[in-house]
Amino acid sequence: MKILVLLFLSKLTLFLRLLLLVFFFHNQVHASGETESPTTLKVIQDKKLVQTLTYSYLDQHPQKQYLKIPQDPAYDNQPREYDAIPFQALFPQIKKNPNTFFQIKATDGFTSLLSADKLLHQDQTKSIAYLAFEPPQKWPLLSKSHKTAGPFYLIWSHPELSHIQKEEWPYSIVTIEIKTNSLENLFPQIFPKPISKANSASQKGLHVFVKNCFTCHTLNQAGESSMGPDLNLPMNPTEYFKPKILKQFIRAPESVRTWPNRKMVGFNKDQLSERELDQLISYLQIMALQKKLPDLKK
Ligand code: HEC
Repeated sequence: MKILVLLFLSKLTLFLRLLLLVFFFHNQVHASGETESPTTLKVIQDKKLVQTLTYSYLDQHPQKQYLKIPQDPAYDNQPREYDAIPFQALFPQIKKNPNTFFQIKATDGFTSLLSADKLLHQDQTKSIAYLAFEPPQKWPLLSKSHKTAGPFYLIWSHPELSHIQKEEWPYSIVTIEIKTNSLENLFPQIFPKPISKANSASQKGLHVFVKNCFTCHTLNQAGESSMGPDLNLPMNPTEYFKPKILKQFIRAPESVRTWPNRKMVGFNKDQLSERELDQLISYLQIMALQKKLPDLKK
């Protein structure tokens, strides 16, 4: 009888131990699930990690400011407020220069390419860039998403002064890569050639493309965006959309075709004038004749 009781007790402790183990693992899984979003921002230059920005570093930064954004593009143009650091204060070592670019990558493959000239000046007559950082209590969720605009978001004071477009407000930023080279050396495959007066509209269209479309689309596989399809390979949209329909698509993609997971948002006339849209179409038409895979020697 005594033996039986002992046996029962030892089985019981084994059972309790197992129960504890299960409980422990269950909690572990939960804890790691909640901290999955990256809270550091990696800064890369010449393929090397040069800086790691963290919440506590930014929160204690002497140039921290509280910024009111009257129309926040990430939050359906609603007013929002952020703790943010002037972008220029984070990169004192980088010189203002039209041939230095910041390639800013988001978690979803959205990639903005912004010149150091635009991001690093302190001229109050122009729009000034700031890096907003998400506090531990988190920003609200973006509409139609289970994510916030955090952990890092590039915002602008007085965006109207330099005509800053919605594509220039990258959110959910994970890396910033500093590239010191001209746009043509960085991405030769997106340049229309030969450069002549006859195709000056397409030259202007190139810049319209870089500002508005390059964030989500590659062209001739140049660029690092991975949200939308390449706009020249294997086929250029001017080869299968009538010009009128392509323009309509860019203004309002849902008026051409629609489905629940559609991601591209149309460009209205304030974001892209009729003239810029025509320049963009001429650019795409010229590029259809210049299909080129990246030069693998580089
Ligand atoms: C926010 C990201 C984003 C931006 C900015 C963007 N696109 Fe798109 N685009 C997409 C995605 C994603 C698709 C695939 C369809 C979808 O999910 O909406 C797409 C599809 C397209 C298509 C249709 C291709 C096909 O064959 O179905 C064309 C053409 C196009 N985009 C052109 C442009 C042009 C031109 C611009 C710049 C004025 C631009 N896009 C800006 C994300 C974007």
